[in-house]
Amino acid sequence: MIDIDRIRSDFPFLDRRIDGQPVIYLDSANTSQKPRQVIDAMSDFLRDGYAPINRSAYRMAAAATDAYEGARAAIAQFIGAASPDEVVFTRNATEALNMFAQGWTRAHLSAGDAVVLTHMEHHANVVPWQMMAAERGIQLRWIPLTTDGHLDLTDLDRLLDGAKVLSFTAMSNVLGTLNPVRKLCDAAHAAGAIAMVDACQSVPHSVTDVTAMGADLCAFSAHKMLGPSGIGALW
Ligand SMILES: Cc1ncc(COP(=O)(O)O)c(C=O)c1O
Repeated sequence: MIDIDRIRSDFPFLDRRIDGQPVIYLDSANTSQKPRQVIDAMSDFLRDGYAPINRSAYRMAAAATDAYEGARAAIAQFIGAASPDEVVFTRNATEALNMFAQGWTRAHLSAGDAVVLTHMEHHANVVPWQMMAAERGIQLRWIPLTTDGHLDLTDLDRLLDGAKVLSFTAMSNVLGTLNPVRKLCDAAHAAGAIAMVDACQSVPHSVTDVTAMGADLCAFSAHKMLGPSGIGALW
């Protein structure tokens, strides 16, 4: 059984009363509240351990660097990455998605190359590709939805035919739909495309193993899984 009272006691925000009523927070898929363990770790660092990272050799800086790189190693382990070197810290998932969509695309795609997206993407996985379509003439193709909110994969092979990228969400932020990540990554690879997974909602909600997912890249954010805002990752 989940001990709700014990979990609530981790979140100082939930001790508040608004208009005399206890707070019930239902917006965690948007951004989560922070437990006291995270608040304490952040304020401990700012109060007692703040120093530059990867820029100085004195003792405080070395300790701060170890903590920072230790976080990268913890994230790598959390998502089943082979090495911390595979984890690039970004400001959020939006930046991670843009880093790939704009960085890689500018170097590797040209007019007429196709990128496949789905109709359940968050704006963060749509706008960067629309920008690339406008700038580079990249062709966008869309996997439609069924009436019950799943991906309609009837035409997947045709949509992927000749495509260079399939970029899709593992879990819809609107519908909660869980997409068949492995199947989609395998289909992308069979068509010679790179598979980018927006794992912003799935990493907080389920055990993540990027190797088992079969993805090439994966984007997610700390602020949706109890961590601070201002940091995310591109694997
Ligand atoms: C599926 C999905 N992708 C991307 C994002 C953007 O995440 P971030 O706020 O970390 O940029 C969100 C945020 O709501 C999301 O739900």
